[in-house]
Amino acid sequence: MLPNKRPDDMQRITTPELANAFIDEQVKQIRAQVGDKKVLLALSGGVDSSVVAALLIKAIGKQLVCVHVNHGLMRKGESEQVIEVFGKELDANLIYIDATDRFLDLLKGVSAPETKRKIIGGEFIKVFDEEASKLKGISFLAQGTIYPDIIESDGVKAHHNVGGLPEEIQFELVEPVRLLYKDEVRVVGKALGLPVNMVDRQPFPGPGLGVRCLGAITRDRLHALRKADAILREEFDNCGLASKVWQYFIAVPDMKSVGVKDGKRYEGWPAIIRAVNTVDAMTATIEEIPYSVLNKITQRITSEVEGINRVLFDLTPKPVGTIEWE
Ligand code: XMP
Repeated sequence: MLPNKRPDDMQRITTPELANAFIDEQVKQIRAQVGDKKVLLALSGGVDSSVVAALLIKAIGKQLVCVHVNHGLMRKGESEQVIEVFGKELDANLIYIDATDRFLDLLKGVSAPETKRKIIGGEFIKVFDEEASKLKGISFLAQGTIYPDIIESDGVKAHHNVGGLPEEIQFELVEPVRLLYKDEVRVVGKALGLPVNMVDRQPFPGPGLGVRCLGAITRDRLHALRKADAILREEFDNCGLASKVWQYFIAVPDMKSVGVKDGKRYEGWPAIIRAVNTVDAMTATIEEIPYSVLNKITQRITSEVEGINRVLFDLTPKPVGTIEWE
């Protein structure tokens, strides 16, 4: 097991050479810790769990069992990328669970943000536990804990929380990136050959689009949100903003306004653009998006996304607004 404190003399991993040295060292340590036993990992597709998965695949191959739970609140293409990269390219032992209906049924009619979060977090652990109980011969649980998680909390991520597993299945932890900062995890991920868009992914809240489909989630509004969000990301990619802006997304509130389309009254939801820059997410400023880009996004969303009839740009810094709307 790695220590809880990062040694004062530990060099910051900034280059592929340093990343490769770290990878070689961790591969040895993981093999020594795990032997010929099996390891389970909840693979969300986020930066940390993806890098841990790639590291473990390199060290122990098929002894790693990855479980990807699709809660139906992922951004467009994200679950598909997990299957493509880990299931196909890296030939991992990957169990994919589409739990969309379970999550959306439980969330039906629930509008309070904290209740939505609790339902999503609780159900995630339940689905993962059910899968873990079915598997035989698992001895270890891998987690994408990184150093800020240890400094800022008790060291265990809520969504990968071993404390949430039933008593009869308690595992020893494998946490190969627990002493690394986020930027170092990204350098290691690139050295492991993971796709750049996976390694440089923006932070995505555990409850996913659930906190951006404001109020009580409905399938049609969630679908519209996912589509509008994909257009925003495409246009940010096209104009070079994707690599510059810290976090950007669409939120769709649970209200309609009157509009006009094809000469007829058209009631629809507004899509709200949020694009913020920050260092630590405690405060945030607004990116000044060129008007031409805003116009293009507005034109595309209102013509391509069924159910949306207005596009708004949120100019509120944090404070006073939080980054997410819920
Ligand atoms: P706020 O909205 O509090 O967000 O300004 C700060 C940062 O945290 C992310 N965030 C979450 N991440 N689970 C997460 O894993 C959550 O429930 C959650 N809520 C907010 C948010 O995306 C932003 O980067």
